[in-house]
Amino acid sequence: MQVVRTIPLMREARARLTGTVGFVPTMGYLHEGHLSLVRRAKQECHHLVVSIFVNPAQFGPGEDYQRYPRDEARDLCLLEPLGVDIVFIPTPEEMYPEGFCTWIDVTGPLAQRLEGAFRPGHFRGVATVVAKLFNIVQPHRTYFGEKDAQQLRIVRQLVADLNIPVEIVPCPTIREPDGLAMSSRNTYLSPSERERAVALYRALLSAQEMIKAGLRDASQIRRQMEDLLRQYGAKVDYVSIAHPDTLEEVERIEGPVLALVAAWVGPARLIDNLLIKP
Ligand code: PAJ
Repeated sequence: MQVVRTIPLMREARARLTGTVGFVPTMGYLHEGHLSLVRRAKQECHHLVVSIFVNPAQFGPGEDYQRYPRDEARDLCLLEPLGVDIVFIPTPEEMYPEGFCTWIDVTGPLAQRLEGAFRPGHFRGVATVVAKLFNIVQPHRTYFGEKDAQQLRIVRQLVADLNIPVEIVPCPTIREPDGLAMSSRNTYLSPSERERAVALYRALLSAQEMIKAGLRDASQIRRQMEDLLRQYGAKVDYVSIAHPDTLEEVERIEGPVLALVAAWVGPARLIDNLLIKP
């Protein structure tokens, strides 16, 4: 496993790979969610590239860029046994040198709603870094978690709109035994907050139960989800019952919907989602 920190060396290492190349972009502090993407990529591609880059451009002022957890040695130990060929770990200066001034702005409701509304500029940072990473690594396939449903949808849009020749492979959300979606940000939780963090998944399951029971009024479901989250002491940013493709809010449930939640549990802003078929 080769660790590469500059773009020219990454290009050289990439050029030596023959056959299909799979790519898993991450911000590090790896957990089973990330590793599930790496294992899937390993099954489907001849070679594997993983990037670790805490992308400053996707954090807003006052967000957790500085305190985002980082542990490169631990990440490399987790990746080594999985048959990764190259780990790309650039510095912020390597990715955003002085004079950098080209940004990719995903416009329209897809990027403005939900995370886009609560984290202005977030998806601009994500779209820009993902496009740069695709250009640097030039993978055949790239693996993204359904945990970040809106990000996945936006990366699909980016790749289609800019004709980037890469296949996007969505991968299911990996959860802790109690249902909490794995996230590097779970490390912010104290033991009691960690127990209450199950609220997000519980709210999603309650939406699923209501829909399976025949409830079709989405606003009623959203209200019940909010109530449940508050009972756990979570501070709700949004709950949404949305169309799975457009992510626009649904009023009457007639087909599959994506239930999405963002809420604060103590110092951690957590997100989760569940695809629900009536
Ligand atoms: P990060 O949060 O590190 O996540 C990297 C990838 O792992 C993303 O595709 C994310 O959806 C996936 N992932 C995270 N938790 C998961 C879980 N519990 N189950 C399955 N997959 C999970 O997402 C980012 O980094 C960044 O925005 C990035 C795309 C790297 C751009 O900077």
